Amino acid sequence: MADKLIPLRIAGIGYSVPDTVVTNDDLTKLYETSDEWIYSRTGIKERRLVSGEETAIDLGERAAKNAIKKAGMTPDDIDLIIAASTAPIEVYSMGCQIHKRLGISKPVPAFDVAAACTGLIYGLSIAKGMIASGMYKNILIVATDNNSKLLDWTDRGTSILFGDGAGALVVTQAEDGEDDIIAIDIKSDGNYDHLISLPFDGKNCPLVEQAEVKPSLIKMNGRGVYAFVAKILPKYVEDLLKNSGLTSEDIDYMIPHQANIRIIQAVQERLGLPEDKVVTNIKYYGNTSAASIPIALAEGVEKGNVKLNSTALLCGFGAGMTWGGAIIRLRDGIC
Ligand code: UT7
Repeated sequence: MADKLIPLRIAGIGYSVPDTVVTNDDLTKLYETSDEWIYSRTGIKERRLVSGEETAIDLGERAAKNAIKKAGMTPDDIDLIIAASTAPIEVYSMGCQIHKRLGISKPVPAFDVAAACTGLIYGLSIAKGMIASGMYKNILIVATDNNSKLLDWTDRGTSILFGDGAGALVVTQAEDGEDDIIAIDIKSDGNYDHLISLPFDGKNCPLVEQAEVKPSLIKMNGRGVYAFVAKILPKYVEDLLKNSGLTSEDIDYMIPHQANIRIIQAVQERLGLPEDKVVTNIKYYGNTSAASIPIALAEGVEKGNVKLNSTALLCGFGAGMTWGGAIIRLRDGIC
């Protein structure tokens, strides 16, 4: 253990999305809906979905390799893997699957964080503690989801919202004493668990009384989620800034969870941020759960919409209910 807390540097970021595009118009083949209905309520025009044998593990592998390369490292430099997955294709550790895919030549700890769409912020928070204590040096956080495999494609109120994708961050010890995480906070309230659920009920032993088995599909009360988040998130983000001794003027970019453009706008209005400071790509990817923040960040940098040597506010929420925020420094060379 270190005598003093070690600061963290964000060394590399990366993302990956499937090639297959499914538009709002395509969804009209599944149920009665329209591009106008979906776009006006969510800001989504299309989403990327895995197809055939492709899964969140493939997406996570690609995002992780991109982030490791940007960090100027090789997979063998990673000494801890944290995987955040909302819709894992393998419940017994997506992190271990990523370890295998990266071909890391030694055993390293790998585990999953189940915090739904807030998973990236939860992962970053855990990584901060691990770096600060000196326990690990180079940590890979991979947020990857294939929601489309766990959606009920007859439920038009839920399935319109989600897409698949992955984002990854490599964090390491900062040698110059500057911590790239200016503030970070995570929260949950299990009393709102009924708003979004994904049961993995399994079946009782045939020798005992049988319980009801619910299908393993994402179930969401969209209106309830909207009301809950619109009530808590704008004030929460405002308080995060205040408690860090900052104002919205100190923030160059807000990179929110891409869940619904109207929720993003509610936070933007509360903070009084101009539109060009808010990074959104929901129109093209829908809600990619835990992956949505790192995809927006990495793609924003790649496309030049997010300039480096800047400060970004990340905020998100998800099933549980969970929520969280982080204020981070984006240094040159991370993407
Ligand atoms: O990270 C995950 C977080 N989740 C969220 O952020 C979800 C937040 N919530 C939302 O984004 C919105 O609630 C939705 C976009 C999911 C739904 O919008 P809404 O305005 O809340 O619709 P609703 O579920 O209250 O349904 C209103 C009406 C209903 O018809 P009636 O009962 O009023 O006749 C629905 O049957 O719209 C109907 N409807 C649709 N119509 C056309 C529901 N889905 C559709 C659809 N196309 N896809």
